[in-house]
Amino acid sequence: MNIDFANLQLQYQKYKVDIDANIQAVLNKSNYIMGEEVYELERVLEGFTGAKHAITCSSGTDALLLAMMAMDIQPGDEIITTPFTFIATAETIALMKAKPVFVDIEPDTFNIDANLIEAAITDKTKAIMPVSLYGQPADMDTIQAIADKYNLKVIIDGAQSFGSTYNNKTDSNLGDISTTSFFPAKPLGCYGDGGAVFTNNDEYAKIIKMMRVHGQNKHYHHKYIGMGGRLDTIQAAILLAKLPHYSQELADRQQIAQHYTDALSDRLQTPVIRSNRSSAWAQYTVRVNNRDALQAKLKDNGIPTAVYYPIPLHLQECFQYLNCKQGDFPNSEKASGKVISLPMNSFLSEKEIEHVSISLLNNV
Ligand SMILES: Cc1ncc(COP(=O)(O)O)c(C=O)c1O
Repeated sequence: MNIDFANLQLQYQKYKVDIDANIQAVLNKSNYIMGEEVYELERVLEGFTGAKHAITCSSGTDALLLAMMAMDIQPGDEIITTPFTFIATAETIALMKAKPVFVDIEPDTFNIDANLIEAAITDKTKAIMPVSLYGQPADMDTIQAIADKYNLKVIIDGAQSFGSTYNNKTDSNLGDISTTSFFPAKPLGCYGDGGAVFTNNDEYAKIIKMMRVHGQNKHYHHKYIGMGGRLDTIQAAILLAKLPHYSQELADRQQIAQHYTDALSDRLQTPVIRSNRSSAWAQYTVRVNNRDALQAKLKDNGIPTAVYYPIPLHLQECFQYLNCKQGDFPNSEKASGKVISLPMNSFLSEKEIEHVSISLLNNV
């Protein structure tokens, strides 16, 4: 049995009629840049998330940059985030010439440990950037309370968590600004690069809309230094075809995660989802002690796996200038050495889940 990790081919086959028709409509109109599908998608995203403004953009990375541009983050400002995340989280902070200040994670959820944030605040701190890792929001009540106390902004890197919830609100509708990625393998993916920024703040929304088109407020009138950060119309058309199925996909992912947990939790440390949250299950991630050997065995059994992420950001070469060292963030370092993500997509069959689970248990 050969299992597909994200199974984008089957996904396309399932929605092919609608996706093809939507792409063809864009080709017929040739409205490739900021066509009406982009605006239609933004209205649909607002409805889905409950956020007042959804502003699409070129990627989850650019969404983070746009969020910080809207907040007027300045060189030397400090932004508190987690070292156990994809590089883009801290990379974009550094691109703004601000300083990423890392705070360790909770060992069970893999998300930033909100109880450690206060100790990292200085008079240069401007924002907190939690990441909803693997699909589950961080401890937003505590994070928001700290932000309120110290007058800080909250930017949620929700690249992996579109559709997840915290106290029954989507995580696109929390913090000052929330972002997501539509990278193909993300829970809601387009067929190229794409992303979105969400906010309930009218002023931020106005600025982000300008920033994604080179800071212009009128054609060829540039109020700000911005960027080329638009979502292609074809990608918007693809997302419009996929969105009607997304709630069902989330429910299917939840069920698949539960099947994995039922099969594995006696022997392995399976994901912990807090009772006031739901995950979008971008990844189903367990911890093992023999990761390299296990990955090889699973590969022989037709089971692809992935490691998100093998090196925490404070130990990456590009962040040497921050002068962090091994041992600074022990929970992140431990997680980096042990995590392994199993195939996860809404089309996994019970047989496939069983095959993965049995192969895993036979080799840990
Ligand atoms: C946590 C996190 N932040 C940001 C990004 C960047 O998103 P994109 O690849 O769309 O630029 C990703 C994508 O992998 C991510 O996982």
